[in-house]
Amino acid sequence: MSGDYVPVGRLDDIPPLGGRCVKTPRGPVGVFRTEDDRVFAVDNRCPHRGGPLSEGIVHGAFVTCPLHNAVISLETGELAGPDVGRVATIPVRVVDGEIQIAIPAEIPRDPVPGAPAAALPKTAARRVAPKESV
Ligand code: FES
Repeated sequence: MSGDYVPVGRLDDIPPLGGRCVKTPRGPVGVFRTEDDRVFAVDNRCPHRGGPLSEGIVHGAFVTCPLHNAVISLETGELAGPDVGRVATIPVRVVDGEIQIAIPAEIPRDPVPGAPAAALPKTAARRVAPKESV
């Protein structure tokens, strides 16, 4: 599975131990920054009951869901407890301070049903908004 990397914001837009929700054609993606400046991206939907993981608490390489405290590995997407399940992890990289995530090629980029995917820009992901404007 390969995908194009698209910019979603600056590393400085996310404080250490913070997270942001990025709207993408494949759905909302949670982008997280750890205390030691590692960056992870996972589907922003808790496998328990769909909680918004980007609003959770980051600790180490884990995020705790804000709804019922499920702990999810940002490295593997696996639930560490108290339930079982997994969220999809999304390849992410930081280039010159810019966070880029990979949108899998096989997932349609088209956010509008029926519109031709080829007409959509490659940078279809919405950028990370600074905390103050969220
Ligand atoms: S929705 Fe995340 S723990 Fe329940």
